[in-house]
Amino acid sequence: MLTTSMMALPTPLVTTLLLSILSSLVKAQTDDAKACTCFRTNGSSSGYFTSHRFFDYRNVVSSQAVVPDVTTALDITTHSMASSDFFTTDSWTSMWTVQNWTNSDSRASSDASILMANSPSNVYIEKSNDTDPSYSTYLTLRTSRQKDFQSAAEINSAEKNFQYLSARFYARVIGSSGACAGMFTYLAPESDKKPWTVQEADIEILTNGPRNKVQYTNQPSVDKKGNTITKGTINGTNPENRDWSQWNVYRLDWIPKLSEWYVNGQSVASIKFQAPVDPAGLMINMWSDGGSWTGNMSLFEEAYLQIQWMEVVYNTSGPAEGIRRRNEADEMNHAGPLVKRKGRKGCKVVCGIDEQVVKTGTPVILINNTASAPLGWKGQGVGWMGWIPLLLGAATVFGFF
Ligand SMILES: *[C@@H]1O[C@H](CO)[C@@H](O)[C@H](O)[C@H]1NC(C)=O
Ligand SMILES: *[C@@H]1O[C@H](CO)[C@@H](O)[C@H](O)[C@H]1NC(C)=O
Ligand SMILES: *[C@@H]1O[C@H](CO)[C@@H](O)[C@H](O)[C@H]1NC(C)=O
Ligand SMILES: *[C@@H]1O[C@H](CO)[C@@H](O)[C@H](O)[C@H]1NC(C)=O
Ligand SMILES: *[C@@H]1O[C@H](CO)[C@@H](O)[C@H](O)[C@H]1NC(C)=O
Ligand SMILES: *[C@@H]1O[C@H](CO)[C@@H](O)[C@H](O)[C@H]1NC(C)=O
Ligand SMILES: *[C@@H]1O[C@H](CO)[C@@H](O)[C@H](O)[C@H]1NC(C)=O
Repeated sequence: MLTTSMMALPTPLVTTLLLSILSSLVKAQTDDAKACTCFRTNGSSSGYFTSHRFFDYRNVVSSQAVVPDVTTALDITTHSMASSDFFTTDSWTSMWTVQNWTNSDSRASSDASILMANSPSNVYIEKSNDTDPSYSTYLTLRTSRQKDFQSAAEINSAEKNFQYLSARFYARVIGSSGACAGMFTYLAPESDKKPWTVQEADIEILTNGPRNKVQYTNQPSVDKKGNTITKGTINGTNPENRDWSQWNVYRLDWIPKLSEWYVNGQSVASIKFQAPVDPAGLMINMWSDGGSWTGNMSLFEEAYLQIQWMEVVYNTSGPAEGIRRRNEADEMNHAGPLVKRKGRKGCKVVCGIDEQVVKTGTPVILINNTASAPLGWKGQGVGWMGWIPLLLGAATVFGFF
């Protein structure tokens, strides 16, 4: 139960590593919030974070809003092209990779009753047909039941070294029963034979469940002996019983020793048990495998996860590719390869992404310590330039060169 994702870790490449270091520096300098040196969130899981990204799918140029036909042949599904150029631009690829894996290998060891195949044709920008004029498009992840397989959608963050984050998704789920919409952090298990070593903090919406209910989980949900773990999961109720087919802001906070979830600014679940520990990626999917968690979708039915915008504040640790657990679990876990050294910069300009925000996605300056000694992080902050030699050093140690 609760299995949300399986993925192959990409082979680390020198060029990707260098490019991602460079692009993260460029991003840090060109972000909307360029005046900010750190970002603060509110609520009982509030924290300070070094990076901020805002992804806005609300008014994408209409030429990029292309809804591909559902492909009915398995090999065409997994080999399909991006649905539009939007998904080949740097602004998309610097953050997300569209998946095309299938569950053909893992199916036997799960209760999946159907082959599931992820397809780039199920990730697209769609023209809004709603009356609300504040958005003309949104991002859609589609899943549909075909004769011999379930066509599904998944996007993974290109960087898999988030260590603590607060992610917000303005999303709705519509369509047929038997699908699961997932928004979660993910660190692959140490090996396929040790599924209980997975680390995840999940938001899951089941289309066969009550429309005011969302499941929040720190994975794993099954222990080494195959017993169900119930302490890591909460069946949450949306504030005011809001229906998940309406637009709601789902927020996942992953901070040291705690995962906390909010819907429309109100806390709905808080779980310390099994809170993820090590650097992880961020994933979004819309899927079904005919197993006990999702149930079955009826033939040719479809269901959709739609997202207007996402906002993420985060810290990173270690190489952008994240932990290569299968080989280097011991070295990389816990401490991480990056030794944080005391910087001189600290957090001079503290910005809020909740408090006082007027325009969604635009952080607001809360404290400007530029004139005085840095406060915010009590001098622990690390300047952007300070990371470069450390990252390259880490890469050398772990054999990327
Ligand atoms: C955080 O701030 C937002 C915006 O002011 C507000 O809507 C929300 O209720 C706050 N959440 C908490 C948990 O304080
Ligand atoms: C993020 O990093 C900063 C700088 O190292 C640190 O002060 C802050 O506490 C970190 N945030 C979390 C949630 O650990
Ligand atoms: C996924 O796409 C890549 C690149 O097009 C291709 O080489 C690979 O075979 C595809 N995977 C599957 C399972 O079809
Ligand atoms: C768009 O909305 C109109 C009016 O609600 C409805 O009749 C039509 O079927 C919708 N079209 C699509 C493609 O959903
Ligand atoms: C959550 O609780 C509701 C009853 O309030 C139930 O119908 C639903 O099946 C539960 N969801 C899960 C995943 O257990
Ligand atoms: C889904 O349907 C298949 C038959 O096609 C069946 O074997 C399986 O038990 C069903 N799964 C659920 C969760 O009902
Ligand atoms: C912060 O304060 C300094 C000195 O008072 C000032 O020069 C700077 O422009 C301020 N920064 C922002 C982003 O307002």
